[in-house]
Amino acid sequence: MNQSEVTPKNIVLIGFMGSGKSTVGRELHQRLGYHLTDMDQLIEERLGKKISEIFVEEGESAFRDFETMQLMEIARQTDKRHIISTGGGIVIRPENRSLLRRLGYVVWLNAPEEVISERTSRNRDRPLLNHQDSRARIAMLLAEREPWYRETAHLKIDTAGLDSHETAAGILESARYFFTHPA
Ligand code: S3P
Repeated sequence: MNQSEVTPKNIVLIGFMGSGKSTVGRELHQRLGYHLTDMDQLIEERLGKKISEIFVEEGESAFRDFETMQLMEIARQTDKRHIISTGGGIVIRPENRSLLRRLGYVVWLNAPEEVISERTSRNRDRPLLNHQDSRARIAMLLAEREPWYRETAHLKIDTAGLDSHETAAGILESARYFFTHPA
Protein backbone atom coordinates (compact mmCIF):
# COMPACT_ATOMS: atom_id res chain seq x y z
CA MET A 1 0.00 0.00 0.00
CA ASN A 2 1.21 3.50 -0.74
CA GLN A 3 2.55 5.35 2.32
CA SER A 4 0.53 8.44 1.35
CA GLU A 5 -2.70 6.43 1.78
CA VAL A 6 -1.92 5.45 5.34
CA THR A 7 -0.05 8.38 6.84
CA PRO A 8 -1.41 11.92 7.00
CA LYS A 9 0.89 14.43 5.33
CA ASN A 10 1.89 16.17 8.54
CA ILE A 11 5.51 16.75 9.48
CA VAL A 12 6.26 16.21 13.17
CA LEU A 13 9.44 17.58 14.76
CA ILE A 14 10.80 15.87 17.84
CA GLY A 15 14.07 16.27 19.71
CA PHE A 16 15.69 17.58 22.84
CA MET A 17 15.28 21.12 24.18
CA GLY A 18 17.40 23.48 22.11
CA SER A 19 17.57 21.21 19.08
CA GLY A 20 15.87 23.86 16.91
CA LYS A 21 12.33 22.45 16.56
CA SER A 22 10.53 25.81 16.77
CA THR A 23 12.87 27.59 14.33
CA VAL A 24 12.83 24.75 11.80
CA GLY A 25 9.05 24.45 12.27
CA ARG A 26 8.62 28.11 11.29
CA GLU A 27 10.89 27.63 8.29
CA LEU A 28 8.88 24.60 7.08
CA HIS A 29 5.65 26.51 7.64
CA GLN A 30 6.91 29.35 5.45
CA ARG A 31 8.03 27.02 2.69
CA LEU A 32 5.06 24.68 2.63
CA GLY A 33 2.25 26.86 3.92
CA TYR A 34 1.10 24.03 6.20
CA HIS A 35 -0.56 25.09 9.44
CA LEU A 36 2.07 25.52 12.18
CA THR A 37 1.31 23.94 15.53
CA ASP A 38 3.84 24.65 18.26
CA MET A 39 2.67 22.45 21.12
CA ASP A 40 4.37 24.34 23.96
CA GLN A 41 2.97 27.62 22.67
CA LEU A 42 -0.49 26.08 22.33
CA ILE A 43 -0.41 24.76 25.90
CA GLU A 44 0.72 28.17 27.21
CA GLU A 45 -2.08 29.91 25.30
CA ARG A 46 -4.72 27.42 26.44
CA LEU A 47 -3.72 27.63 30.10
CA GLY A 48 -2.75 31.30 30.06
CA LYS A 49 0.54 30.47 31.82
CA LYS A 50 4.18 30.02 30.97
CA ILE A 51 5.45 26.43 30.89
CA SER A 52 7.62 27.20 33.94
CA GLU A 53 4.53 28.34 35.88
CA ILE A 54 2.62 25.19 34.88
CA PHE A 55 5.48 23.05 36.21
CA VAL A 56 5.63 24.98 39.49
CA GLU A 57 1.89 25.32 40.07
CA GLU A 58 0.56 22.04 38.68
CA GLY A 59 3.59 19.77 38.44
CA GLU A 60 5.28 17.92 35.61
CA SER A 61 2.75 15.11 35.52
CA ALA A 62 -0.13 17.57 34.92
CA PHE A 63 1.91 19.19 32.15
CA ARG A 64 2.41 15.76 30.56
CA ASP A 65 -1.36 15.19 30.70
CA PHE A 66 -1.94 18.49 28.85
CA GLU A 67 0.67 17.46 26.32
CA THR A 68 -1.05 14.12 25.59
CA MET A 69 -4.49 15.79 25.41
CA GLN A 70 -3.11 18.33 22.96
CA LEU A 71 -1.61 15.59 20.79
CA MET A 72 -4.91 13.71 20.70
CA GLU A 73 -6.69 16.88 19.66
CA ILE A 74 -4.24 17.51 16.82
CA ALA A 75 -4.70 13.90 15.64
CA ARG A 76 -8.44 14.59 15.29
CA GLN A 77 -7.83 17.60 13.03
CA THR A 78 -7.68 15.83 9.68
CA ASP A 79 -8.91 18.78 7.58
CA LYS A 80 -5.53 20.48 7.16
CA ARG A 81 -1.85 19.59 7.00
CA HIS A 82 0.31 20.52 9.93
CA ILE A 83 3.90 21.16 10.85
CA ILE A 84 3.91 20.03 14.47
CA SER A 85 6.69 21.24 16.71
CA THR A 86 6.68 19.27 19.98
CA GLY A 87 8.19 19.75 23.44
CA GLY A 88 11.38 17.78 24.09
CA GLY A 89 9.70 15.44 26.59
CA ILE A 90 6.81 14.37 24.36
CA VAL A 91 8.47 10.98 23.78
CA ILE A 92 8.50 10.02 27.47
CA ARG A 93 5.02 8.48 27.32
CA PRO A 94 4.60 5.36 25.15
CA GLU A 95 1.09 6.41 24.07
CA ASN A 96 2.53 9.68 22.74
CA ARG A 97 5.22 7.83 20.81
CA SER A 98 2.72 5.70 18.90
CA LEU A 99 0.40 8.67 18.37
CA LEU A 100 3.27 10.71 16.92
CA ARG A 101 4.09 7.95 14.40
CA ARG A 102 0.49 7.89 13.26
CA LEU A 103 0.35 11.69 12.90
CA GLY A 104 2.77 11.89 9.99
CA TYR A 105 6.43 11.97 9.07
CA VAL A 106 8.41 12.19 12.30
CA VAL A 107 11.77 13.97 12.17
CA TRP A 108 14.21 13.86 15.07
CA LEU A 109 16.39 16.97 15.26
CA ASN A 110 19.53 15.87 17.02
CA ALA A 111 22.37 17.97 18.43
CA PRO A 112 25.35 17.10 20.63
CA GLU A 113 25.27 17.80 24.36
CA GLU A 114 27.60 20.82 24.17
CA VAL A 115 25.46 22.48 21.48
CA ILE A 116 22.28 21.84 23.51
CA SER A 117 23.97 23.23 26.59
CA GLU A 118 25.08 26.38 24.79
CA ARG A 119 21.68 27.00 23.17
CA THR A 120 19.58 26.34 26.27
CA SER A 121 21.76 28.53 28.50
CA ARG A 122 20.32 31.60 26.72
CA ASN A 123 16.75 30.88 27.81
CA ARG A 124 15.63 30.31 31.39
CA ASP A 125 12.08 29.17 30.64
CA ARG A 126 12.97 25.47 30.78
CA PRO A 127 12.07 24.20 34.23
CA LEU A 128 13.78 20.84 33.80
CA LEU A 129 17.12 22.59 33.29
CA ASN A 130 16.84 25.01 36.19
CA HIS A 131 19.44 23.10 38.15
CA GLN A 132 22.83 24.01 39.52
CA ASP A 133 24.48 21.49 37.25
CA SER A 134 22.35 21.88 34.14
CA ARG A 135 25.03 20.25 31.98
CA ALA A 136 24.81 16.99 33.95
CA ARG A 137 21.05 17.22 33.82
CA ILE A 138 21.16 17.55 30.01
CA ALA A 139 23.49 14.54 29.74
CA MET A 140 21.22 12.43 31.94
CA LEU A 141 17.99 13.36 30.13
CA LEU A 142 19.61 12.95 26.71
CA ALA A 143 20.82 9.43 27.56
CA GLU A 144 17.40 8.50 28.92
CA ARG A 145 15.45 9.87 25.96
CA GLU A 146 17.66 8.95 23.04
CA PRO A 147 16.15 5.45 22.59
CA TRP A 148 12.66 7.00 22.57
CA TYR A 149 13.55 9.59 19.93
CA ARG A 150 15.13 6.81 17.86
CA GLU A 151 12.08 4.56 18.23
CA THR A 152 9.66 7.34 17.26
CA ALA A 153 11.45 9.01 14.35
CA HIS A 154 11.29 8.13 10.67
CA LEU A 155 14.32 10.38 10.08
CA LYS A 156 17.17 11.65 12.25
CA ILE A 157 18.95 14.88 11.29
CA ASP A 158 22.12 16.09 12.99
CA THR A 159 21.59 19.82 13.09
CA ALA A 160 24.87 20.98 14.67
CA GLY A 161 26.55 22.16 11.46
CA LEU A 162 23.37 23.22 9.67
CA ASP A 163 21.32 26.40 9.69
CA SER A 164 17.53 26.20 9.77
CA HIS A 165 17.24 26.65 5.96
CA GLU A 166 19.53 23.69 5.34
CA THR A 167 17.77 21.53 7.92
CA ALA A 168 14.36 22.39 6.42
CA ALA A 169 15.59 21.62 2.90
CA GLY A 170 16.78 18.15 4.02
CA ILE A 171 13.46 17.47 5.73
CA LEU A 172 11.45 18.54 2.69
CA GLU A 173 13.38 16.31 0.35
CA SER A 174 13.06 13.20 2.50
CA ALA A 175 9.42 13.92 3.43
CA ARG A 176 8.54 14.11 -0.25
CA TYR A 177 10.13 10.69 -0.75
CA PHE A 178 8.41 9.24 2.34
CA PHE A 179 4.97 10.41 1.28
CA THR A 180 5.28 9.17 -2.27
CA HIS A 181 6.96 5.77 -1.87
CA PRO A 182 5.62 2.54 -0.43
CA ALA A 183 6.93 1.62 3.05
C1 S3P B 1 10.49 19.86 28.00
C2 S3P B 1 10.79 20.63 26.89
C3 S3P B 1 10.21 21.94 26.66
C4 S3P B 1 8.84 22.05 27.36
C5 S3P B 1 8.98 21.69 28.81
C6 S3P B 1 9.49 20.26 29.01
C7 S3P B 1 11.19 18.56 28.16
O1 S3P B 1 10.03 22.18 25.26
O2 S3P B 1 7.90 21.22 26.75
O3 S3P B 1 9.85 22.62 29.41
O4 S3P B 1 10.75 17.74 28.99
O5 S3P B 1 12.19 18.32 27.45
P1 S3P B 1 11.24 22.50 24.26
O6 S3P B 1 11.83 21.21 23.81
O7 S3P B 1 10.57 23.22 23.12
O8 S3P B 1 12.21 23.37 24.98
